[in-house]
Amino acid sequence: GFSDIESQSSKTLLEYEEILFQESVSEKFKNFTHAAHGMLYALDDRLVFGMFRQRAAILMQLRFDGILGFPGGLVDPGENPMEALNREMEEEINLDLTQHPFTNDNHLVTFLHHKKQLVLHFFTKEVSLDQFKNIELKSLNAKEYGLECFGSIRPPLFTMEDGFKGLPAFLSNQFAGNSREQLLYALKSRNIITSEEIATCVESMKRHVE
Ligand code: GTP
Ligand code: MN
Ligand code: MN
Ligand code: MN
Ligand code: MN
Ligand code: MN
Repeated sequence: GFSDIESQSSKTLLEYEEILFQESVSEKFKNFTHAAHGMLYALDDRLVFGMFRQRAAILMQLRFDGILGFPGGLVDPGENPMEALNREMEEEINLDLTQHPFTNDNHLVTFLHHKKQLVLHFFTKEVSLDQFKNIELKSLNAKEYGLECFGSIRPPLFTMEDGFKGLPAFLSNQFAGNSREQLLYALKSRNIITSEEIATCVESMKRHVE
């Protein structure tokens, strides 16, 4: 589960609890703010500098506020989380919904922030590396490019010899909502990085930001 990441990650995370999707969309949380974000990714076993296995290309973005996050956004009145996600994917990265729609099968995890009355739904979708590159290219023509969205980025998933450069350095950026934890959760549950390596990266990140 999430607990070994939780015990090692930032204090922000402790404020979020995992909740079943069905419960999260029940009457009980009807008046909470809901948001849905998605992680598009492709497996990529190429070596960076002939040394470091990248493992996967993952699409994150720089937001208008200078903070990193996943494409996606608020669930508007009358929408379900899936509809909101697909609409935001088109607005923010110009995703071709006829080719790459997110479906219920892509749901990974939902987090609840009681105090903020916030419900964060998270989805992941695997595509081929060629499709991924095409999605990145098309994102420059998104309606929100240059407005809400300031460009897609691929997090480095390897760690370099100093134990910090690579994923730990990336993790020491500022992240919207709990998107850093969503990333770690996905890396682990999709078997892209082992939980031991993730724990090492989180420790290294924390040592450097303290
Ligand atoms: P507007 O159209 O300007 O309202 O933005 P939006 O609908 O695209 O919403 P946004 O993506 O900013 O997400 C809304 C809420 O979710 C905010 O409270 C953010 O802090 C939070 N948030 C933003 N990005 C992410 C993300 O990648 N993951 C998580 N967990 N939360 C995020
Ligand atoms: Mn060079
Ligand atoms: Mn948006
Ligand atoms: Mn958004
Ligand atoms: Mn929106
Ligand atoms: Mn908007």
